Parts: sequence; C-alpha cells; structure tokens
Amino acid sequence: MSIETGAVRESGATRLRGIRACVFDAYGTLFDFASATARCDDVPADLRASLSTLWRDKQLQYTWLRSLQGDYADFWQVTSDALDFALDSLGIANAPRHARLMDLYMTLSAFPEVAGVLRQLRQAGFVTAILSNGTPAMLTAAVHAAGIGDLLDAVLSADAVGKYKTHPRVYEYGLRQLGLAAREVSFQSSNAWDAYAASAFGMRVVWCNRYGQREERLPGRPDHVIRSLDELPALLEHAR
Ligand code: LAC
Repeated sequence: MSIETGAVRESGATRLRGIRACVFDAYGTLFDFASATARCDDVPADLRASLSTLWRDKQLQYTWLRSLQGDYADFWQVTSDALDFALDSLGIANAPRHARLMDLYMTLSAFPEVAGVLRQLRQAGFVTAILSNGTPAMLTAAVHAAGIGDLLDAVLSADAVGKYKTHPRVYEYGLRQLGLAAREVSFQSSNAWDAYAASAFGMRVVWCNRYGQREERLPGRPDHVIRSLDELPALLEHAR
C-alpha cells in the first residue's frame, strides 16, 4: 500500500515518524475472538467456525446499529445478544452453552506475538495502550488472562463515551486520555473498518490484516498493512 507524508524510508524500511504512542484495538487485534468457540467442547466441532463468524458479525452490527439509534448498551450486553442470535440461527441455543461461551469470551487467547511486540515497543520508548469497544471489566479480564498488564500504559474503553467505534468521539476520547495529538499516535487494528475510520480521524494507522480482508471503500487510508504485529516495531520511529 502507498505511504503517506510523514513516513520516512530508511535501510529499506518505511517508517512512520514522530510517533509517541501505539494504540491497539483489542478483539481480533490483540485477542483471538475465535478462541472462545474453539475452546468450547459443548459446541459441535463442525459448527465452531460458523458460530464464531456469525457471533462476531452480529456483535459488530449491533455496535453500529445501537450507536446509530442512540440506544447504547454496553459491549457485554451486545456480545451476549449477538451470541443469542448466532446460537439460535444455528439451532443450538441453550442457556448453559451461552453461559460457557460468554465465560470463555472473558479470557480469550492473545495472539502469540502480542507480549513480545508490546515489550519491544515499551523498550523503544513508546507509550502502549488499548482503545476498544470492550467494557472495562472485559478488557481487564482479557489483559490479565494474557499476562500483558505490565506491558500496557492504559486500557481505554469506549464505554466511557457511551458510543462505539467508528464514532469519532471514541477516537477523540483515546487521544484526550493520552494527552496526545492524532498524528502522534500509531493505531493498530485488524478490523479494516476500524483502521480506515481511525485514519480518517487523523491518526497514523497500521492495519494488521490478519484475516486477509479486502480494502474498504470508506474514508481514510491506513499508512501500512501488515499480517502480524511482529512487523510493527520496524515501521515506527519515535518522536525525538
Ligand atoms: C474492539 C473490537 C471492535 O476491540 O475489535 O473494539
């Protein structure tokens, strides 16, 4: 993907200049949402992938629809409602299965490279943070389960704003909490829609395209596209 102004080419790598903080989306970017269904023995093996996709798609739709309707419910509620819908759609709805999957969502696996990359970024002097739709309780539990609490300077939840990404107030909230300008932040998301929106908002963006998504036809343009967060540290130059 082409590189915008503010990037510098050095020893073959094209880096973003003047970055102070690396801000990460949570679900799909740091934490593997598919690990909930994958670890649930109570879901037939041949339905786990479909359940995960349906659950995730519906969860996201509900965040956007609720933001649009001005009828906020927190991410735990939205995740639970989406799971209800997905289990019902596949004809496997029952209360204990629902409860088990919601429990598993609290302790999703982190992607294998996450801890190492966060450590590397901290050592290089970057502030590290999460900016996610997840509730504070969900994010705290996931961060704790992954053992990355001491590698993060801030865990920021859209719940404080009562809107979901891609509402600009969520990105604005992240900047306010960090006390930084948009151009000083490199935002990482594996969700194309989130990556494009953060870019349109003015942040520098590295789209971690783990899922091989197509480019969005939406405002914004990520500065870089990578397939794993391993590639991130080499793309950033710290503000002097
Ligand atoms: C998040 C979801 C949307 O963490 O991935 O905000």
